[in-house]
Amino acid sequence: MRKYIFLSCIFCFFYTVVLRAQTYDSFRPGEVWLDTQGVPINAHGGGILYVDSVYYWFGEYKTGGPLGNTAQVGVSCYSSKDLYHWKNEGIALRVEEDSTSEIVRGAVIERPKVIYNTKTRKYVMWFHLELKGKGYEAARTGVAVSDHVTGPYTYLCSYRPNAKKYPQNFQKSWKKEQLGLDSLRWWSPEWYQAVEEGMLVRRDFIKGQMSRDMTLFVDDDGKAYHIHASEDNLTLHISELTSDYTAFTGRYVRLFPAGHNEAPTICKYQGKYYMITSGCTGWAPNQARSFSADHIFGPWTSLGDPCEGDAKRTTFDSQGTFLLSVAGKPETFIFMADRWNPKNPVDGRYVWLPVYFENGRIVLRWHNVWEY
Ligand code: DGJ
Repeated sequence: MRKYIFLSCIFCFFYTVVLRAQTYDSFRPGEVWLDTQGVPINAHGGGILYVDSVYYWFGEYKTGGPLGNTAQVGVSCYSSKDLYHWKNEGIALRVEEDSTSEIVRGAVIERPKVIYNTKTRKYVMWFHLELKGKGYEAARTGVAVSDHVTGPYTYLCSYRPNAKKYPQNFQKSWKKEQLGLDSLRWWSPEWYQAVEEGMLVRRDFIKGQMSRDMTLFVDDDGKAYHIHASEDNLTLHISELTSDYTAFTGRYVRLFPAGHNEAPTICKYQGKYYMITSGCTGWAPNQARSFSADHIFGPWTSLGDPCEGDAKRTTFDSQGTFLLSVAGKPETFIFMADRWNPKNPVDGRYVWLPVYFENGRIVLRWHNVWEY
């Protein structure tokens, strides 16, 4: 009997570690990507932090079936030294079972991003949070911290950012009482003008601005920014975080009012800021947009669709989640995107593509197989 158990153990070890383990020497966008134990990587809407020669990939841990797009488990973490092979480090932020918790199992936890604060020596995770059973109406951003990069992260709280603060690029004449604008027909010229002039900023002035799709960016001076789709997903906000990265200072700007941008991703290349976003079509992919600026608070210039050869105009059937700067290669960036699969969320695929900077533009091109 003992001999039998021993032989089964040897077989299991051989099967998981030797037979199923996969080695990679390239990226294969859209294909199933296995971790070092041979299991598909489960880190959707993710972002990456580089610490002591190791990359840490945080993402939404999805499950199959209709509940799979809500958080049934939490935020996963994987580690890698070469960006090709990823070791599962477990669940960095776990959903809670207490029904009064904002991150109770069944809440929506999307697009987690982690940054490191050198002053507090804490790892700080932010994510798009929607309260359980409320669809996408809460439009909040949650924050959690840990002493260790892989977690466990402790949930602190959630925000509607910048309550009772006007944006830096808000005209004086727009700081007025709002009268009867709610009834304007969407996309009518009057409505465009009203959105541009801050109708929705004023609507949310007291309770704080909406925050849905989001990303984080730490600038060279150590200041961190939270970039989020706000104002009913119509306008992006770039908000400065406090020096411990766990709250908002109240300084923020609005970008492209009524531009309908989601999925913000940002990087800095040769002193210039570049952003790639998407339009708003739920889980279905749409045409990417790109922008550049000399200062993080703008002004930002529209550069159009960054994708070349994207015949269907669907960002190569994906939606961006992060622009990764490759360590030790200042010219090398990777556009990380998701090919969502809302019917079987756990089988959503990853589309990672090389980033080109050409004539002041940020450019993406499809590759079946590529190396960095
Ligand atoms: C698009 C967003 O980018 C995703 O993160 C998710 O919120 C879906 N919409 C939900 O429809």
